[in-house]
Amino acid sequence: MAAARRIIIDTDPGQDDAVAILLALASLELEVIGITAVAGNVPLSLTEKNALKICELAGKTDMKVYSGAVRPLVRPLVTAEHVHGRTGLDGPDLPEPKMKLQGQYAVDFLVEKLMGEEPGSITLCALGPLTNIALALIREPRIAPRIREIVMMGGAYFEVGNITPTAEFNIHVDPHAAAVVFRAGIPIVMMPLDVTHKALATSQRVAAFRALGNKAGIAVAEMLGFSERFDKEKYAGDGGPLHDPCVIAYLVQPELFSGRNCNVEIETGSELTMGMSVVDWWGVTDRKKNAIVMREVDPEAFFTLLARRLGRL
Ligand code: RIB
Ligand code: CA
Repeated sequence: MAAARRIIIDTDPGQDDAVAILLALASLELEVIGITAVAGNVPLSLTEKNALKICELAGKTDMKVYSGAVRPLVRPLVTAEHVHGRTGLDGPDLPEPKMKLQGQYAVDFLVEKLMGEEPGSITLCALGPLTNIALALIREPRIAPRIREIVMMGGAYFEVGNITPTAEFNIHVDPHAAAVVFRAGIPIVMMPLDVTHKALATSQRVAAFRALGNKAGIAVAEMLGFSERFDKEKYAGDGGPLHDPCVIAYLVQPELFSGRNCNVEIETGSELTMGMSVVDWWGVTDRKKNAIVMREVDPEAFFTLLARRLGRL
């Protein structure tokens, strides 16, 4: 096997973040060199604690978890307890973590790691608002060419929005951070709602996680049983979209996904469309192409991969 791909996961857990982190920790193709927490689905005090809980659930108690931005760059924090519950990880009854956070601030960890390691050796996996990554780019612009790739869940084009009629949650929470990241000249792979809405955690697929019978499988079934209720009611389907694991699945099996190299710009001026990801999918402008925007996924293969890997924990 080739050397494991070294990744840092930036996250706002969140049940779907939890599944993504578990998938990464169960995949030998990846080496998770750190997890940085950001405010998003719930306040930072909870996202940082949830990240620790997830590492303990996976039995990875030596994982380094860092606390990051407590709020977006400019706008007040918008959270999503209506989806994720008061704790952000409602569903399973996970114990208070024994693991401790690292003392170093997440942004300083990102800068130190990216400046200290071989250029192009680290991939950033962004599962929440992009505040930490934008702050790192502002603190030390020299990290930009040293980042191998940013694979992020966020934005939308044909699906338009989920938190407002035009914006997806991660980008809407911190549109200014997203604008900084999309303009930094870093290779980006974007997993928008257009692809995650095709990865639906149906009751049959959730049952397959529960049938694994291990702690991780049962906990994931309980997490999705809670968080998917909101989307199942909203979209009137048999399952809610499983957003963040698409980022990790892409790194493990990129062939499950397909998309197009496009220009992506972020709305930061209009309140009506704040946080909208404006994707030039049809190439009608001469704007620079700055992201591979995914639109298709093989859902059966995606969920088979997830079940197999969760079963390893
Ligand atoms: O819009 C979906 C995204 O917002 C996911 O990352 C979910 O965890 C929330 O952060
Ligand atoms: Ca998330």
